[in-house]
Amino acid sequence: MTDLPGDLPTALWAELAALPRPTLSALFGDPGRLQRFSTALDLPGGTIRFDWSKTHLDAAHVAGFERLARSTQFAARRAALFAGEIVNPSEHRAAEHTAQRGLGKDTSVEEAAALHTRMRGLVEAIHDGVLGEVKHLIHIGIGGSALGPKLAIDALAREDSRVAVHVVSNIDGCALEEAFAACDPATTMIAVASKTFTTMETMTNAASALAWLGDNGIEDGFGRVVALTAAPEKAVEWGVDETRVLPFPASVGGRYSLWSSIGFPIALALGWEQFAELLDGAAAMDRHFLDEEGPANLPLLAAFADQFYSRLRGCQTRACFAYDERLRLLPFYLQQLEMESNGKSVTADGGAVHGPTAPITWGGVGTDAQHAVFQLLHQGTNIVPVDFIAAIAPGDVLDEAHHRILLSNCFAQGAALMAGKASSDPARAYPGDRPSATMLIDELNPATLGALIAFHEHRTFANAVLMEINPFDQWGVELGKEIANAIEAGGSKFDASTAALLAAAGIG
Ligand code: F6P
Repeated sequence: MTDLPGDLPTALWAELAALPRPTLSALFGDPGRLQRFSTALDLPGGTIRFDWSKTHLDAAHVAGFERLARSTQFAARRAALFAGEIVNPSEHRAAEHTAQRGLGKDTSVEEAAALHTRMRGLVEAIHDGVLGEVKHLIHIGIGGSALGPKLAIDALAREDSRVAVHVVSNIDGCALEEAFAACDPATTMIAVASKTFTTMETMTNAASALAWLGDNGIEDGFGRVVALTAAPEKAVEWGVDETRVLPFPASVGGRYSLWSSIGFPIALALGWEQFAELLDGAAAMDRHFLDEEGPANLPLLAAFADQFYSRLRGCQTRACFAYDERLRLLPFYLQQLEMESNGKSVTADGGAVHGPTAPITWGGVGTDAQHAVFQLLHQGTNIVPVDFIAAIAPGDVLDEAHHRILLSNCFAQGAALMAGKASSDPARAYPGDRPSATMLIDELNPATLGALIAFHEHRTFANAVLMEINPFDQWGVELGKEIANAIEAGGSKFDASTAALLAAAGIG
């Protein structure tokens, strides 16, 4: 493991790098450690316990990171975020996802409330049968226009979905065909979710879905289409009736957009009340993030630990394991949130970054992952900081042994990673001293899920501030799109390898 990755030019990073790093077992010699590094946060949907005690943060590191947060103007940047100021300089935009939850610039909060009123009207009209019988919604979008709805619906609408939602993101026609096979065209609506309303995958899938309706006897296909977008004029131009265009502001980033009209399928599946609870849970986390200072601010404390492992201990990945089948899509959601936000090589003002930026986010679901990847976590040469997420209340009604064993395993893994085990046989020895954090929810419901997602949004933002990067742009995805477009257009010349692949596939 690299001990000091890259050069750490600022005095504060150098100071942090020079601090002694006690082991976890030494840190737990302090009887007050658990209390100092864990908090039970009471939220609208129940309590979430955030336990960061099994990380290597100690008082000296926390103090050092607090100095870093002051020097990178964390408080001012957080205030700017919530005030709707330009926090995304490369696109000259604000990042107003919190306004969708009721906290932000007054005009933006009012605009969000008006959008939600329209959304609610449409959702309730569909539930009331005003648009005919609607049993299915094919939600077409990709990236931030798909991952949030997919996660929330998979987590919360397992048994009694008001409308069955099929989220289709991939351009691979197999994905859309799978949705077609599950739907009756006569009772299916289509949501086209795209902030820009230009994304090639989404527009191609949308056209094919419309053709499928037509091929199956639906004369007015557009009469079944809802558009969720920040480019309403493009949706209207494409053919969607403006009464079914739900526009959200350009200042809401794609990967932060599930709270806006991109959340329409969530509201359609769960009902408006539950969507409102999701927003309330997120708003409670917003208030915590806005009001608390220093390590009492949980997203900031988590960011201190993230920076410790990434920049001071050279950990190149971070893993999240949900011990809850309902949260099996959370790692995918976090991958976009964290890697698209913080996978950068320049600071917000265009300078070189002072060290590594976002680690690779990965993860899975417990206990499955224990039987597949945990070997590496316990005995591999990579140190992987792990987050465990679990709920005290079961999501199932089977014998209580299921949930008890699930939780026992979750807690056992954190204990085992930390404690390790000596053995005279090197193959059977566990080094231990491996970090983890645990988020334990009373119950998984819309409000606690909203809070959990907002926690990760703010953690991502806090990390960006500490690294002085802009988390709200994503220029790195553009070049691949440009080249794909050039291939589609034909006539471009490529390197020998790419040209041979294209020729083999009969493209171009
Ligand atoms: O290619 C990346 C990206 O721009 C994401 O940031 C975004 O969530 C996704 O594509 C989809 O974009 P849109 O909502 O504009 O279709």
